[in-house]
Amino acid sequence: MSIEQLAETAQAMVAPGKGIIAIDESNGTIGKRFEAVGIANSEDNRRAYREMLLTTPKLAEHISGAILFDETLRQSTRDGVPFARVMRNAGIIPGIKVDKGTQPLAGFPGEVVTEGLDGLRERLREYYRLGARFAKWRAVIHIGEDMPSGTCIEVNTHALARYAALCQENGLVPMVEPEVLMDGDHDIESCFEVSEVVLRSLFDALYNQGVMLEGTILKASMVLPGKDCEEQVAVDEVASSTLMCLKSAVPAILPGIVFLSGGQSDVDATAHLDAMNRMGPNPWPLSFSYGRAMQQAALKLWAQDPEKNVARAQQLVYARARDNGLAALGEWTPG
Ligand code: 13P
Repeated sequence: MSIEQLAETAQAMVAPGKGIIAIDESNGTIGKRFEAVGIANSEDNRRAYREMLLTTPKLAEHISGAILFDETLRQSTRDGVPFARVMRNAGIIPGIKVDKGTQPLAGFPGEVVTEGLDGLRERLREYYRLGARFAKWRAVIHIGEDMPSGTCIEVNTHALARYAALCQENGLVPMVEPEVLMDGDHDIESCFEVSEVVLRSLFDALYNQGVMLEGTILKASMVLPGKDCEEQVAVDEVASSTLMCLKSAVPAILPGIVFLSGGQSDVDATAHLDAMNRMGPNPWPLSFSYGRAMQQAALKLWAQDPEKNVARAQQLVYARARDNGLAALGEWTPG
């Protein structure tokens, strides 16, 4: 696979005014989201829900790609059209989550390491044949007392770089995601420090392992105070802290950065992205790769009547895509 093709895909993922919808919840995670709205976690309910999302009319106006879970990439619409083909026909790039989730990091209580490297080359080859053109791997970093440890950061960024190199070898753009969690009562300065160290470690590891940054996308968490921190901060402070952190640690040659929503409200996720783009020009396009902040309103409505509410739920998906697409341009207005 040539770097030109990878770079072309990466640039298309962050095309002006477009972002990613993350619908790659594992069967366990989607089960929790379904349970909260009274939907049984069956394969067909998962299929029907993802069909509602992926067939949203005009979605591609603001959505460049969607990240799927393994099961979803193998599923089809009720009429039998594979989701990957539905997406290609709509102009939405299929992506795939390839990590296998986190496990406790031995010797470091409270910390986790993301697994999934064994057999990854073969899985990536199959995902490419099934139509995927980018792949996501999420590392999870907790902030707490004496956390994160240097070891936790190092093992996670090393794994991210190994997965990224394998992706590029097999024609998929790696979307590297080192998520610094919002859980806890830490302040925004702690989040800044941890995020900066994690990003520096990540780009060191990518460099050491020969990953071509021109064909890589960063999925970043924003610099925020912990959910339980007493000192919450204004939108502009989140935006300027996040920008300063990224500028200090992320090479300008990267084709783009997309954010996860991480438990922020829909409006906060959009407002923060919009503010960062208003503060531009920035070294890279800044866009979104939201899961919850793209889906939660639509899931709630769909779940009330999965047969009858498809079109109305899709209007909510479209509205979230449009708002976040405008925020990716710094042109969003609240309300
Ligand atoms: P959230 O936007 O819900 O944080 O999910 C994005 C994602 O893909 C996390 O891995």
